[in-house]
Amino acid sequence: MPIVLRPSDRLFVLTGAGISAESGIPTFRGVGGLWEGHRVEEVATPEAFAADPEMVWRFYSMRRELAAKCKPNAAHRALAEIEERMGDRMTICTQNVDPLHEEAGSQRVIHMHGELFVTRCSNDGCNTEPFHDPALYPTRADIPQCKCGALLRPHICWFGEVPFQMEEAFDALDRCSVFLTVGTSGAVQPAASFVQHARRNGARTYYVGPEEPSNVLSFQEVFLGKAGEVLPGLFRAE
Ligand code: OAD
Repeated sequence: MPIVLRPSDRLFVLTGAGISAESGIPTFRGVGGLWEGHRVEEVATPEAFAADPEMVWRFYSMRRELAAKCKPNAAHRALAEIEERMGDRMTICTQNVDPLHEEAGSQRVIHMHGELFVTRCSNDGCNTEPFHDPALYPTRADIPQCKCGALLRPHICWFGEVPFQMEEAFDALDRCSVFLTVGTSGAVQPAASFVQHARRNGARTYYVGPEEPSNVLSFQEVFLGKAGEVLPGLFRAE
């Protein structure tokens, strides 16, 4: 049964690593996942960056190099097509740092965990703006310094840091009538509790992915399957 979208509906889509899996970007958890080969505390915390910026930049340089070769898949394209019809009645909030939603044509995308191809100053008191940066910094000597003297760092929300654009995300969540999550294990907050928030406000709630997420009981309906196969036929406009 497709999800019916009425002219008055507002759609909020939360995406996770699973939506980019068919594009060739590895997920985090499970067999072959990024967290199998890397310790979170060595590459994804501010403490790790302070202790070993070379290790951290090597990890994000590797991810930049891989993501630069990947293209959006049918799931990213399906969401971009819905946005074309719904305009600002639709918001995508992604935990992904890759740019595949934008490359598929989506315009209203909140990157709550940051962006892989953006670099910023590691000194929070510095006023240098984050900037687009596809460069790789695989060795200590490559890591650039800000004009304030601090090292530059990836514009990523690491563990222990506050996700980006949360006010905007909760504003869209509060107003949505249809809430869809695609390809996230439900292991990381605050994204994992968005579904309960949407449900309390009366939204219809759906999940798409090949296996049940850990917060499965919060969804009214689950479509088991790969995002690229399920999403293109999932919605029907009324
Ligand atoms: P996970 O790796 O935890 O979960 C990926 C999910 O994608 C799993 O539930 C898979 O079943 C599902 N999946 C796999 N292939 C899929 C496909 N073809 N179509 C749809 N779903 C598929 O990734 P996230 O839940 O996104 O944070 O992880 C959340 C956060 O944890 C990440 O943003 C990252 C990580 O630590 C930071 O780095 C801050």
